[in-house]
Amino acid sequence: MSTRPRTPAPATPAPGKLPLPELGEMKRRGDRIAMVTAYDSPAALLADEAGVELILVGDTAAMVMLGHESTVPVTLDEMIFLTRAVTRSARRPLVVGDLPFGSYEVSDEQAVASAIRLVKEAGADVVKLEGAGRMVSRVRAIAESNIGVMAHVGLTPQSATKLGGFRAQGRTADAALKLLDDSLALEDAGAFALVLEAVPAPVAATVTQSVSIPTIGIGAGADCDGQVLVMYDLIGLSRGRRPRFVKNFLAGNDSIVGALSAFANAVRTRTFPDAEHSY
Ligand code: KIV
Repeated sequence: MSTRPRTPAPATPAPGKLPLPELGEMKRRGDRIAMVTAYDSPAALLADEAGVELILVGDTAAMVMLGHESTVPVTLDEMIFLTRAVTRSARRPLVVGDLPFGSYEVSDEQAVASAIRLVKEAGADVVKLEGAGRMVSRVRAIAESNIGVMAHVGLTPQSATKLGGFRAQGRTADAALKLLDDSLALEDAGAFALVLEAVPAPVAATVTQSVSIPTIGIGAGADCDGQVLVMYDLIGLSRGRRPRFVKNFLAGNDSIVGALSAFANAVRTRTFPDAEHSY
């Protein structure tokens, strides 16, 4: 297999790449979407072999790979380094490059410039950022620059301090309504998908029915259009406090690719997450 770096322009996906509009079609057909994180080339090869639709080079790399206490310290240069390793090896899955804290908050111009770096220097197919409010305008600016952008609401780890820690969101009626409004605004701004993190399952189900873009849940119940897990959680490599929604898929499987395939299969057959792994 060639290991030559590739630098696709947003309008020219590499041969064999899952077309971005297929994710919307999957939602319409009721087919579930599987996404895992990866931060290096071997993990990308395994995720591709397991048949996931999306690989997220998440800023969780800060915690699970680099030993930081939160996702905040990781820099855009570090994310580009990691994303480049993933895009060298991921053929079919779309690679989502995560915009780290500090790379898009200042202005729409800063957000577009950072997104362009992730696409042009790292080969990301699309990018992701956290939040709503002022971030709606960032999403619009990136989408209008012809870069696919995934939004992320609910528990947004980059603002965990402001949220009072790593805790479930949308748990009061007002908070749930705000989450729904934010999701509709992000869809209107041009997001192609929406991560819902640590949100009560009924709230995530309402958001999923209300938007026409796919929702990808993590600790958001079984009614989202897709699910994502951090690969190190999925194979039992993470240390420290384990969130309720984490399941170790290596238990009962004898290889990492087996665990990743079991996760993708459980998402498609709607057996993950069960009540034990939801809020
Ligand atoms: O950075 C990340 O890995 C994420 C997932 C937890 C969705 O944002």
